[in-house]
Amino acid sequence: MKAIQVGLLGIGTVGSGTYNVLQRNQEEIKRRAGRGIEITMVADLDVARAQSLVGPGVQVVNDARAVIANPEIDIVIELIGGYGIAKQLVLEAIAAGKHVVTANKALLAVHGTEIFAAASVKGVMVAFEAAVAGGIPIIKALREGLTANRIQWIAGIINGTTNFILSEMRDKGLDFDVVLKEAQRLGYAEADPTFDIEGVDAAHKATILCSIAYGVPVQFDKAYVEGITKLGAQDIRYAEQLGYRIKLLGITKRTAKGIELRVHPSLVPTKRLLANVEGAMNAVVVNGDAVGTTLYYGKGAGSEPTASAVIADLVDITRLHTADPLHRVPHLAFQPDAMSNLPVLPMSEVVTSYYLRLRVADQAGVLAKVTGILAEAGISIDAVLQREADEVGGEGSTQTDLIILTHDAREGTMNDALLKLQALPTVLAPIVRIRKEELAG
Ligand code: HSE
Repeated sequence: MKAIQVGLLGIGTVGSGTYNVLQRNQEEIKRRAGRGIEITMVADLDVARAQSLVGPGVQVVNDARAVIANPEIDIVIELIGGYGIAKQLVLEAIAAGKHVVTANKALLAVHGTEIFAAASVKGVMVAFEAAVAGGIPIIKALREGLTANRIQWIAGIINGTTNFILSEMRDKGLDFDVVLKEAQRLGYAEADPTFDIEGVDAAHKATILCSIAYGVPVQFDKAYVEGITKLGAQDIRYAEQLGYRIKLLGITKRTAKGIELRVHPSLVPTKRLLANVEGAMNAVVVNGDAVGTTLYYGKGAGSEPTASAVIADLVDITRLHTADPLHRVPHLAFQPDAMSNLPVLPMSEVVTSYYLRLRVADQAGVLAKVTGILAEAGISIDAVLQREADEVGGEGSTQTDLIILTHDAREGTMNDALLKLQALPTVLAPIVRIRKEELAG
């Protein structure tokens, strides 16, 4: 049978990886897919560079629309990124009856509802395994492998840049700014790392996971997003002393009131596997009612790991493109007419436990006042650690750090209590609040 023809929009790191892996493993891929899969056309603004990355048999153009207009092309891979031209091109490819493979998490987290609806009308597939956690087949696992389950929660390290930075901060006792510069020098962090360090990239991915876990529309605008820029080396050290590591987690949970969807630094018990995921690696923990807790670990970015996910989508589409659209795996795991309207909860309604660090005057009655405010708010304390004043502020210091771990509390209640604590004259600096996730099965 004639090979399926693929057009590639944008040949950067992932695009060239996709081309190379398809070439290298073409025989095995063909045995799995049932027919060959060939990239026959590439669109890139730098035509000369693009041509140097692919064989002479591949047509390279500088106009993405020429790929979409080519009637020979069955599948379009979008690797341009962002919500601008990429959105236009994806919608145009769908309108032209092409199947689409994309790694574009930002596009799907923000415009997924519109894109999947357009694809359903045209009876084409939009596949996005590469959009979440790079090479880890988490979309496949959630949509198919765990399809028997009522998913209870997902917690993932789904941004390699920030995990690398946090690992370095912990290993070397360095501050965020220093490690960020080093990560940029080594190429782990982009020149403009905003989306990574502010948690936006992780929130795009968490939004997609949330949607396919519970069958709710993609709702990036409802996600709570907090990055790692304000984390101090001392909090990483104190957390370690209390038996925790700080990770930037993407979390989505089903609760009686609705769904939690949030990205923020979290203390994770050191004994959990997730806490031991270091460097630029990614890992996702999924808890389902039947299966219990499962863990998926691997490279979340990079040329060939991401290509691995792109090609898995190409194979899926090759196997299924002649099937009646009703017999394909639904884009968001649940049938489009069976989506849920379970609300995404505002952050003030989220219930979790907390790490608090208060820089206080080292004098009688301070601890009693602090614990009194928490008790009044109904917030139960799990552990308290007080450092020697000398250790914190140098010899003769009259200040110290008070570290408190709490049991579960509603975020809104904690916010109110923090305002009262901050107003105490003996609290000498802005209070640090980091959420804590026990992640018990
Ligand atoms: N910038 C992402 C990361 C990879 O650091 O994990 C692409 O989503």
